[in-house]
Amino acid sequence: MSTTDKIQQNSHTTEAASLFDSDASQQPISGTNWRDCFPEIIGRSPAIADILITVAKIARSDSAVLIFGESGTGKELIASALHRLSNRSEKRFVPINCSAIPENLLESELFGHEKGAFTGATSRRAGHFEIANGGTILLDEIGDMPLRLQAKLLRVLQEKQFTSVGGSHLKQADVRVVAATNIDLDKAIKEGRFRLDLFYRLNVLPITLPPLRDRKADIVDLLDHFLSIANRIHNLSSPCYLSDTAIELLCSYEWPGNIRELQNLIERLVILKNGGEISTEHLPLEIRRSLSPIESDQKQVSPGTMPLAPISQTIQGNIAANHPTDRLTLPSEGINLTQYIESLENKMILEALERTHHNKNQAAKLLGLNRTTLVERIKKRKIAPLNPTIKT
Ligand SMILES: Nc1ncnc2c1ncn2[C@@H]1O[C@H](COP(=O)(O)OP(=O)(O)O)[C@@H](O)[C@H]1O
Ligand SMILES: [Mg+2]
Repeated sequence: MSTTDKIQQNSHTTEAASLFDSDASQQPISGTNWRDCFPEIIGRSPAIADILITVAKIARSDSAVLIFGESGTGKELIASALHRLSNRSEKRFVPINCSAIPENLLESELFGHEKGAFTGATSRRAGHFEIANGGTILLDEIGDMPLRLQAKLLRVLQEKQFTSVGGSHLKQADVRVVAATNIDLDKAIKEGRFRLDLFYRLNVLPITLPPLRDRKADIVDLLDHFLSIANRIHNLSSPCYLSDTAIELLCSYEWPGNIRELQNLIERLVILKNGGEISTEHLPLEIRRSLSPIESDQKQVSPGTMPLAPISQTIQGNIAANHPTDRLTLPSEGINLTQYIESLENKMILEALERTHHNKNQAAKLLGLNRTTLVERIKKRKIAPLNPTIKT
């Protein structure tokens, strides 16, 4: 059984199915289960289910969409799914990254230019708005668009017409605009770097993609997905798979680069391992040292009330305090308590082993266990030493 099968489908399946049933006009593909409409989007956390339901609901409208989310959370993937389910799917989906293009080129990239419009413009060139005509344009990293172009974009959105650089002829802009940002637009507006009126124009249908650390229920599915892709691409005779402890570590890591980071890591691990089991010692140090669940929970507590402390201090602190669990919060999506406690215990054992350079006597002391119990637990949980060359 694949690891993904161990996770239960969430109740949103029925919610979304009835959503489509009750309104035939919103059914993207008639007779199809709503989840099947998004085969490329992995994840069954409530957060992803809510987002996909929203995407399915709004796909057929022509209103502007603004997608918020950290880099690597899947903003472009969601925008392209939105286009695919829309009435515009026969025409093009054209993404453009507003921060990657120098200001003087961005206007011509967006709206095209006429021959002789500037030095080097040896012929007329169509811009992204023209190429996307009848389809959808994704203005990625919109928060980095220069103010002068924000004003021009606002006019295009209001009048549904534009002129190319060096041109005088008005062209129709029959384009659905989806914008995406990984920066705090409120802050950019307050600092005068982003126009409030443009924000309102773009923010008709907002979608927020949570960071991966806030939807950890999706990690196992994503690991399976990218492992099977990498195994297929590299055509390995003995496919790579992850050990249980490696999965646990990967599930408790914070993934600052979100799904892009996870995807790249799996690709790298598969190439380097070239088949067989990927275990904890193959993982990068920052993941092996990733925060324990107890520490992640503390991060959600308001700053000041609970500064982050090394794990052993946390335990001692908790033991010293009369209310050790007061400081922990239950994540909104809930937890599997047995798994949580097991993974917490594994983390503590790993950390103790690392800190004591694998001296099991000292590690057992740090954990308040006797040596035999610790050794038994290491065996039972198959906790691999991070540095197998050190023996005690
Ligand atoms: N839910 C998901 N399921 C499968 N792949 C995903 C998912 N979210 C993101 N990805 C993949 O992760 C990478 C980064 O996604 P992308 O849409 O480019 O993120 P962003 O635009 O937010 O930086 C892409 O390769 C994308 O296909
Ligand atoms: Mg992007």
